[in-house]
Amino acid sequence: MNAEGRSRLDQLPEWQALSTHRQELHDVHLRELFAADPGRAERYTLDVGDLHLDYSKHLVTDETLRLLRELAAATGVAELRDAMFRGQRINITEDRAVLHTALRAPHSAVMPVDGEDVIPEVHAVLTKMGTFVDRVRCGDWTGHTGKRIRTVVNIGIGGSDLGPAMAYEALRAYTTRELDFRFVSNVDGADLHEALRGLDPAETLFIVASKTFTTIETITNATSARNWLLSGLGAGGEAVAQHFVALSTNAEKVAEFGIDPQNMFEFWDWVGGRYSYDSAIGLSLMLAIGSDHFREMLAGFHEMDEHFRTAPPEENAPLLLGLLGIWYNNFHDAQSHAVLPYSHYLSKFTAYLQQLDMESNGKSVDRQGEPVRWQTGPVVWGTPGTNGQHAYYQLLHQGTKVVPADLIGFAKPVEDLPPDLAGQHDLLMANLFAQGQALAFGKTPEEVSAEGVSAELVPHRTFRGNHPTTTILAKELSPSVLGQLIALYEHKVFVQGAVWDIDSFDQWGVELGKVLAKRVEPALTEGVEVAGLDASTAGLVATYRAMRGR
Ligand code: F6P
Repeated sequence: MNAEGRSRLDQLPEWQALSTHRQELHDVHLRELFAADPGRAERYTLDVGDLHLDYSKHLVTDETLRLLRELAAATGVAELRDAMFRGQRINITEDRAVLHTALRAPHSAVMPVDGEDVIPEVHAVLTKMGTFVDRVRCGDWTGHTGKRIRTVVNIGIGGSDLGPAMAYEALRAYTTRELDFRFVSNVDGADLHEALRGLDPAETLFIVASKTFTTIETITNATSARNWLLSGLGAGGEAVAQHFVALSTNAEKVAEFGIDPQNMFEFWDWVGGRYSYDSAIGLSLMLAIGSDHFREMLAGFHEMDEHFRTAPPEENAPLLLGLLGIWYNNFHDAQSHAVLPYSHYLSKFTAYLQQLDMESNGKSVDRQGEPVRWQTGPVVWGTPGTNGQHAYYQLLHQGTKVVPADLIGFAKPVEDLPPDLAGQHDLLMANLFAQGQALAFGKTPEEVSAEGVSAELVPHRTFRGNHPTTTILAKELSPSVLGQLIALYEHKVFVQGAVWDIDSFDQWGVELGKVLAKRVEPALTEGVEVAGLDASTAGLVATYRAMRGR
């Protein structure tokens, strides 16, 4: 029993029941599960909003799903979900509400934090963003010399980069081609250098995106960008106003940096960085796709929020995906989860999910600070198909690891593809369907032999199969569908954190490296002796300095 009166996860009878059930299922094969149940493929699907989910290729039976839902009930997933939507401070270690769902709620909604409805301010910022976006896109907002803006450079890192950068790529087909967009995140000067290559400062707008406005990478890059701008324009600090806007919760630091608070788009401490791209952090995206498309995307998020909040457990897609992940993570020893989108436009989708999932659920103490005795968040990885097929799918098919995977695809190619390229779409999707089939059902030794393969090669050419996948299909990758997909994953991560009894909304694990980097830097630049450096690191610092001729 923990301090909140909840039994430890691994002592719950529901957890024990799943362990026993896992042993009973032993190594049941998907071939058997499908053969025994002709209705399985049809029954194990869900249609939620515009998303069609097929979860029939999972190593589960009706009994598995029932036991998993009982685990969710016993661990209070629904209660924690309701507390989140009520604006309670469920991020306990930072004592904050977790209300990214308010960012996409309609004007008519009421969502209080500390008794105050936050919806009016959410919509006020959206309106302010829309006005700014319209001005830049129509050329009414000009740079210091009167030239219209041609390039937007978003400077941010983590949630202040991955979300807008991912969504910009995802919705490329909806973006204006009048503006060029670049995203700078790394403190490696090469990132900014390459992004600024060929740009005219008079036509460049910088968006400095940082929730805290203290993140060293972002402030360093923003300072360098300001220097580049002012020297390029041959102007003084007064030029900054037309070329720099800030997205932040920290007005004081924004002003200190020299950005006019009028040019700041606000969000709030109840929005986590990795849950923030539908807040002001999405300004670069809104500039690219326009405010109507941005609002369509928010409506997509909201549709999934409402589904998660109200759908019964049997039909609740984020709950289902979260529980399936737990089934493999905790009862099949899976260490990772692959996300494999069959869309070039989703090239940054998995990188985005890595922060969402791994920063949220990469924890090893429970909500009371006690060490957990069960596995928590998986390693999330993957790249778009079909590229991965020619790289690491070998391991998925014939390796020794359990790697559950999501296959994501769209029925229609984007509209602005010329007909001959759009014609390649069926081939792309044929690969998605083929991979799901091959992973699940494999190829038996008998099937291989029947093809005339010599006996010694049969084991090498056999595919065990039984690799679980979820297939997620939508008609097209529209702004609304992107919103639905992201919210689906956000809530999946929520479900898992709730079951594992961890705080999914803090990220203390990123702090130590930041502190140490600050301490080590003077040792590199000035040779200052740093107290407490271990022998290995001290040796590396000395070698680095020697290589730099210092
Ligand atoms: O260091 C991790 C982190 O705090 C992320 O959670 C966050 O998204 C990122 O840094 C950037 O933070 P900020 O938006 O405050 O610059």
